[in-house]
Amino acid sequence: MFASLRKNVLTTFLFLVVSFSESFGQTPALIPVATENNLMLLGTDKQNRLRIVYFGAKPAKENDYSKIAAQYFINDNNAGIYNAAYTTAGTYNLVEPALQVKHYDGNLSLDLKYKSFTTNKNPDDGQTITVLLQDEVYPVQVKLFYRTWPKENVVEQWAEVSHTESDSIILSKYASANLYFVAEKFILTHFHGTWAKEMQPVETELSAGIMSLDSKLGTRANLYQSQNFMVSFDKVATETEGKVLIGSLGWTGNFKIDFEIDSWNNLRLIAGINPYASAYTLAPSKIFRTPSLVYTYSEKGTGIASRNLHHWAIEHRIADGKGTRLSLLNNWEATYFDFDEPKLKDLFKDAKNLGVDLFLLDDGWFANKYPRNGDNAGLGDWQENKKKLPNGIGYLVREAEKAGVKFGIWVEPEMINPKSELYETHKDWVLRQNERPEIYFRNQLVLDLSNPEVQQFVYSVLDSMFYKNPNLSFIKWDCNAVIYNAHSMYLQKSGLPQSHLYVEYVRGLYSVLEKLRKKYPSIPMMLCSGGGGRADYEALRYFTEFWPSDNTDPLERIYMQWNYSYFFPALVSCNHVTDWGKQPIKFKTDVAMMGKLGFDIVVSKLNEKDAQFAKSAVTTYNSIKETIWRGDLYRIENPYKKPTAVLFYVSKSKNHGVLFSYLTTERYGNTSSRPSRLAGLDPAKDYQVKEINLYPGANSPFKTTVYSGDYLMTIGINPRLSGSRKSVVLEILEI
Ligand code: DGJ
Repeated sequence: MFASLRKNVLTTFLFLVVSFSESFGQTPALIPVATENNLMLLGTDKQNRLRIVYFGAKPAKENDYSKIAAQYFINDNNAGIYNAAYTTAGTYNLVEPALQVKHYDGNLSLDLKYKSFTTNKNPDDGQTITVLLQDEVYPVQVKLFYRTWPKENVVEQWAEVSHTESDSIILSKYASANLYFVAEKFILTHFHGTWAKEMQPVETELSAGIMSLDSKLGTRANLYQSQNFMVSFDKVATETEGKVLIGSLGWTGNFKIDFEIDSWNNLRLIAGINPYASAYTLAPSKIFRTPSLVYTYSEKGTGIASRNLHHWAIEHRIADGKGTRLSLLNNWEATYFDFDEPKLKDLFKDAKNLGVDLFLLDDGWFANKYPRNGDNAGLGDWQENKKKLPNGIGYLVREAEKAGVKFGIWVEPEMINPKSELYETHKDWVLRQNERPEIYFRNQLVLDLSNPEVQQFVYSVLDSMFYKNPNLSFIKWDCNAVIYNAHSMYLQKSGLPQSHLYVEYVRGLYSVLEKLRKKYPSIPMMLCSGGGGRADYEALRYFTEFWPSDNTDPLERIYMQWNYSYFFPALVSCNHVTDWGKQPIKFKTDVAMMGKLGFDIVVSKLNEKDAQFAKSAVTTYNSIKETIWRGDLYRIENPYKKPTAVLFYVSKSKNHGVLFSYLTTERYGNTSSRPSRLAGLDPAKDYQVKEINLYPGANSPFKTTVYSGDYLMTIGINPRLSGSRKSVVLEILEI
């Protein structure tokens, strides 16, 4: 009987693990965390514990909220309380905890009871709901924060733990968010990979037990696993159909996200800093604040969910989300470490000829005793190399300006080569184990950012560069090594536990970035990490953009950028045209335009037509970039499912659209034989469809034609892809 009842209620996606009448108090607290379309309902039970009563689509009437719980009759005595809003350890709960503590006296128990909640309106939009929970035996309290952005259907969730015990307590696990979902099935899409293969998707149906996504790398998480994920409910969500949660943990270090299927086949999600080697000692009256989990939920597929996240990010999170971005010419793959002033001055001219905004000088410009002529020396010694740059950065900035472009520079300030003067003077600043052999990643080690002196050093590397060169216009902040032999001399000397290192490293990094952003609020900064090692919404508070991967083969990039696009708007995705891949420059440039366009090629070596094309592509890009950066993205044809990839960007006012289409296979007979149905246009408007970004001399089969929005969304348009037209860009303009 129970089984059939459960089936019925599950289909409505409403669920409560305990019987309302049995376990909920007479006047239970009911706390709605609501956005325009969604509702998470928190409620107290008879023992006054806080649970997740409901998560899903929002019923139209608020009056109905109090009736939701009564629909469910399920006993959960066998393993504790599955739907706790912040699961503790050591008392009633026997499943994966969100919070695990050791009290000052060694006791391991915790049982949080609901005390109160407050709701505060946020100045920009939405509200922050704060729920206070307390243990009744030990003076430990937790505040749960739920910040809502109603219009974008985004919730940001974090927690604060504090106590007034007579001595410090140890936090063994301290999650940011604990969620609970009900459905027939849960399909997790997560993204793993390695260098040049970042963001590879894996789709997995969750089965009984726990699956965890985590990183223990210290830095560069994407070298192994991303903290960005999606969960489909009941069946795999498509772009336009199905229930899906898109989540992203804002933490630029070790993380752990647990997906536990409980006895009733429901999903418990616990996300936060990775507790691995990170037990945290919390002194009385101090507050431990977790990072936040950002998520959005849709019952209409991944398209709307990611558009919501994009708009939230642009409006509320990304550094200078509403500002412009600079197109650029980078010299990394064009010169590697081999350059000097005359060579760079030629490249400034190339940048100007190309029409980009900025020249970006990459790795190799610094260090004298151990010059940075390869990746085995110099990191840490941030003085211009006198042989390569006798006149310093200031001269380069001026020369670039004379040539008509801005100047930006690469740094990797968290890192050190053992072959450096910094290492000779400050071995104590390096994360290493004195008694063990050093282990290098790309011949380098990581500086100890838990140390305030090191934080000051990293800050001053940038600060003095800006002080000396106020016209410096762009920073590429790289981070190539993971943390081996994780050990901090600073923590040791200060009598602080080594298990604070992973947490304090990231906090140290944020405090440097915070200070830099205060003094230099508008400088564009690219987050790079040995390719696409770091991409998260906490780092993006400080960075205007990120580098998704060193792999710029445009075919690979179609897939990679597709995957990143579930989480991040095109505005932040730095895409460069390089020598990777065998495709013609037209194909490479089309792919790179779906984001922030850059080049890393020897422009002077381009043949005449390629050079002509690249130049006119920059002009074209400037005329369409606003729609790409801040418009609505519709992923129309999925390259994982078809031999084509089609992506459509539409401006907010629906008066302009750009369609990018690619043939992703070499196999015989694959063409775009059918039209691609567009989306996001106004059915009542008329649009002119025109092929743009054509290679010089190429004939387009498109006669510029006018179609109604209705036609384009009902019948569609065929980009006419074929073996000789493997990438086609169409502009759709309201007339
Ligand atoms: C790794 C980055 O991903 C590259 O773009 C380049 O900046 C190199 N580091 C420089 O060492």
